[in-house]
Amino acid sequence: MSITYLSQEKRFLLETNHSSYIMELAHHDFLSHVYWGKKITNYHGSNKILYRDRGFCPNIEPSDRTFSLDTLPQEYPQYGNGDYRPCAYQVKNEQNETFSDIRYVSHEIYQGKQPLQQLPSSYADEKDVETLIIHMQDKTLGLSIDLYYHVFPTCDVITRYAKFHTTQPLTLTKMLSASVDFRRDDFDLVTMYGAHNNDRNLDRRPLTSATTVVESMRGASSPHQTPFLCLCNHNADEQQGEVYTMQFVYSGNFHGSVHVDPYRNVRMQIGLQPFDCEWHLSPNEIFETPEVVMTYTDQGFNQMSKQLHTFVKQHIVRGIWKDKQRPILFNSWESLYFDIREDKLLEIADTAADLGIELFVLDDGWFKGRNDDNSSLGDWVCDTKKLPHGIAWLSEQIHQRGMQFGIWVEPEMISEDSDLYRTHPEYALQIKDREHVIGRGQLVLDLTSSNVRDYVVESICNVLRSAKIEYVKWDMNRHLTNIGSLFLETKHQRETAHRYMLGVYDIMQRITQQFPDILFESCSSGGGRFDLGMLCYMPQTWTSDNTDAICRTKIQYATSYMMPAITMGSHVSVCPNHQTGRITPMSTRFAVAMSGRLGYELDLTKIHEDEIPLVKQQIALYKQYRPLVQHGTMYRLKNPFTGNEGAWCFVNDKNVLAIYIKTLSEPAAPFRILRLQGLEEDALYQLNHGDVYSGSELMYAGISIPNTKEDFHSEVWYFTKL
Ligand code: GLA
Repeated sequence: MSITYLSQEKRFLLETNHSSYIMELAHHDFLSHVYWGKKITNYHGSNKILYRDRGFCPNIEPSDRTFSLDTLPQEYPQYGNGDYRPCAYQVKNEQNETFSDIRYVSHEIYQGKQPLQQLPSSYADEKDVETLIIHMQDKTLGLSIDLYYHVFPTCDVITRYAKFHTTQPLTLTKMLSASVDFRRDDFDLVTMYGAHNNDRNLDRRPLTSATTVVESMRGASSPHQTPFLCLCNHNADEQQGEVYTMQFVYSGNFHGSVHVDPYRNVRMQIGLQPFDCEWHLSPNEIFETPEVVMTYTDQGFNQMSKQLHTFVKQHIVRGIWKDKQRPILFNSWESLYFDIREDKLLEIADTAADLGIELFVLDDGWFKGRNDDNSSLGDWVCDTKKLPHGIAWLSEQIHQRGMQFGIWVEPEMISEDSDLYRTHPEYALQIKDREHVIGRGQLVLDLTSSNVRDYVVESICNVLRSAKIEYVKWDMNRHLTNIGSLFLETKHQRETAHRYMLGVYDIMQRITQQFPDILFESCSSGGGRFDLGMLCYMPQTWTSDNTDAICRTKIQYATSYMMPAITMGSHVSVCPNHQTGRITPMSTRFAVAMSGRLGYELDLTKIHEDEIPLVKQQIALYKQYRPLVQHGTMYRLKNPFTGNEGAWCFVNDKNVLAIYIKTLSEPAAPFRILRLQGLEEDALYQLNHGDVYSGSELMYAGISIPNTKEDFHSEVWYFTKL
């Protein structure tokens, strides 16, 4: 039993293997938050909520000046009856009143978990998850809000979302998914920010007495801010310290915030972006907020990632690729860009096969008239000028060379210069009488419309049926503007951005369901939509358009806070690197790329003949250590954001792989040590079939890092457990 209700105390106890989450009904049936943190085995209310008459804090009962919602730690706070901190939701009735007041009515507890109806969500066997639904109601408004809590004990994860229904028409203007009040503020906040080619930088700062907001209004979760919030002790590091995280299972606009109130309490929230968004809810309809994944540990960031990685692998990623090893691929983008030519592709394919590559991916530029990024999106038919024998023939040629075949598509988009736009200009997202705002020369399809969605599903499925295709890269290369729909009634216009996402999920569900064997990889100009929503449909993501190994050291390091290596596409590319102009040794490019789902994205026919044996050897090596990287446990060892070095290791019960990257060579360089983690203290580990060391010495004494005179240097150590 991971969920208990103690009726005398009116207390809900949610327990994972190592954490507890406690709520109580306070006076007047308000739902209060009592505790989230390290597991408490026998809780009796030692940290009971204290009440006090504080100035400017309004009271529900005139006779009790100590009880105020402004100071009560709550689970799903509202605005209007006294709490001036950021609320979790807001609604408007037909009289334009925004006051609401939800109180506890009843609850249900059951084993198992239902999927959300229109949104991606986590899943589990019935025995592995328990559900609590707390029914809250504002009887005057006719509003009911069901608060869902799902407890996954073995992963130390709790997920949350809210479901709205009503007996009177209401407009929802804010509908977050989770809100937690802490009666302490001794935290740092860790978030991630970035841009195209600069995905996910770690940002850590102590909390200040204000609200810090992390959000997207771009119609996509975006590389700019990541839908991930992390609070930790000031001294937390990879190996110790308390860490609390919230992660959103959604790929569109989001709003995360951390608010510090004057009494030094902290409110942490995440959910749908309320800016420019509202939802009209009629009686008999429901509105579900997306799910939020929350985890706690007192053992630092590596343990946090271990919990989140296990959760992603077991309860987010699904389908036949869930546990399957991911193939090593070649991708045509940085080798040919739009200059797709049949003969050149086959020449590269010969080399790819010889090197040991397993999957050949034809990126952008293969469809009718697509010679640059200004045209053709929406016209999903082969350009026979470039590929005279067609896609099916090309795929056959690739298979004859012993590789699988994959293709790039960008199904959510439409180019003005396309047959689709010429026939159906109304298919683009738009606002009547306003000119289109263009991004990367293209418009976004109006996926709020079922006609448009049907077109996309049919045209993409036609491509996938037309040839033997085992892999699809699903791209999304611009953000939303002109956010309106010719298909929606006036009153639903401000629902467009969320309806767009529901439309994306609908087409992803329909297409992936029709092709369950295909390996889908999501992409949004790199890792612009690397979120848990996408991973529910597509088990891997192209981590960044930046393929520079030194930049990738940081990007992959930060991404690994939330996402396991098996989900991260990482490629060896050419030098000078196309994004940075940097020249990096092939060994370092490989060391970084092998730390995820390995690929090669360069003209393989131009690899210098001296390097061919090295690349062959690398590919063979990756095949040998693939189960370790893709299914083992990752430990971060040196933080490239705070120094000149980055390092991590992968560990399973048979092998250890440690990777070290040094950015710049140093004069008078100190002798450095790399201390591994996650090994068995008493076990013996053999280094590259040579010397033998104990687990404890590798973890506590560490390995001496060779002192070299080279920029962008890397070291890789392979150990076998004896
Ligand atoms: C995006 C992707 C790239 C490539 C191009 C093709 O930028 O991130 O990997 O597929 O589109 O246009």
